[in-house]
Amino acid sequence: MKTADYKETLDQYYVHVYNRFPIVLERGDGMRVYDTDGKEYLDFAAGIAVFALGYNDPEYNAALTDQIGKIIHTSNLYYNVPAAEASEKLVRSCGMSKAFFTNSGTEAIEGAIKAARKYAWKKGKKEGGIIAMKNSFHGRSVGALSVTGNDHYQEAFRPLMGGVKFARFNDFDSILECVGDDTCAIILETVQGEGGIYPADPAFLRDVRALCDEKDILLILDEIQCGMGRTGDLWAFDGYGIKPDIMTCAKALGCGVPVGAFVLNEKTASSSLEPGDHGTTYGGNPLACAAVSAVFDIFEKRDIVGHVRELTPYFERKLGELTDRHSCVKERRGKGFMQGLELEGRKVGEVVAAAREKGLLVISAGTNVLRLVPPLAAQKEDFDKMAEILDVCLG
Ligand SMILES: Cc1ncc(COP(=O)(O)O)c(C=O)c1O
Repeated sequence: MKTADYKETLDQYYVHVYNRFPIVLERGDGMRVYDTDGKEYLDFAAGIAVFALGYNDPEYNAALTDQIGKIIHTSNLYYNVPAAEASEKLVRSCGMSKAFFTNSGTEAIEGAIKAARKYAWKKGKKEGGIIAMKNSFHGRSVGALSVTGNDHYQEAFRPLMGGVKFARFNDFDSILECVGDDTCAIILETVQGEGGIYPADPAFLRDVRALCDEKDILLILDEIQCGMGRTGDLWAFDGYGIKPDIMTCAKALGCGVPVGAFVLNEKTASSSLEPGDHGTTYGGNPLACAAVSAVFDIFEKRDIVGHVRELTPYFERKLGELTDRHSCVKERRGKGFMQGLELEGRKVGEVVAAAREKGLLVISAGTNVLRLVPPLAAQKEDFDKMAEILDVCLG
């Protein structure tokens, strides 16, 4: 088959919910991916913030191959070795109490909502009220979509899950306006990703944490995009000096193998989900958990988080230079290797397409933000090349 045939086949047989970019990706290596015509791309999209280690990492591949040769699925009716190892590493990494592995970020959100509601229900709060943020993104299933503050995504699928109120991100007063006796949880992204790369203000997060403590409301932090080292801390909340009651993660957790998790602190774990309350056939399978376990080992061995922290000023300097040179860049925002350039007077889609033509993959976020979420293994020369290409595309 030729490239055009693959596109035609996928368009014919696959539900059309994505307007895909017109290239067929075939393989990847390090920071680069290659399409079926053999064209090379420097990848600053990383499969939407997934490939923290880059592509085709030998150590990661070896761990997966080893597990494939043993067993890849057991169901949760039995214990399995990688699930034991991965859950311990995940829980210890964030100083919480218990983890539950899912197949995606969206499912992690579903589990987090259920855990929060069960916690409140056991205390006699039966309404299960949740405060979510406008401009947020938590996934497309009915529960996750119900807490996603974007009318456009929700419109055709109402009625959604009840009991959800929306406050403004980084506006504590708007949260106070939503709080009631029925409120069992507040859910937010520590750094809003899809909404346009907006980090939480430290004072805002501290105030939300204090409010949750005062009223025994559970704080759910969605670290699906911003967690696992992306901001220069292993968990973005580490950089804020606060902890959630429930944390959700996915994307870089498996570095390409589909896996997510919700993680509960001691208070929530000891008084929420019980046998029979939740489940999944595939979640926590040995293959996905072997990936998680290998990712944690490699992160530690190569000090991936330290690398992100060390190179962030260089990345930011390069983006700062682009911001200064091009009037169409209104603002640079972000943390670590999760950066956005808000554009005005230029359509982000045009810049994304021009960059792709020149061999650089970038994606958009929000209404007009160029999103840069490279593999966490990116080096100075990758930032130089990215800046060189964007300099031409933004001009
Ligand atoms: C913050 C956040 N939450 C949830 C999700 C949904 O995760 P998934 O696509 O793995 O279901 C995403 C995906 O982009 C996300 O960025």
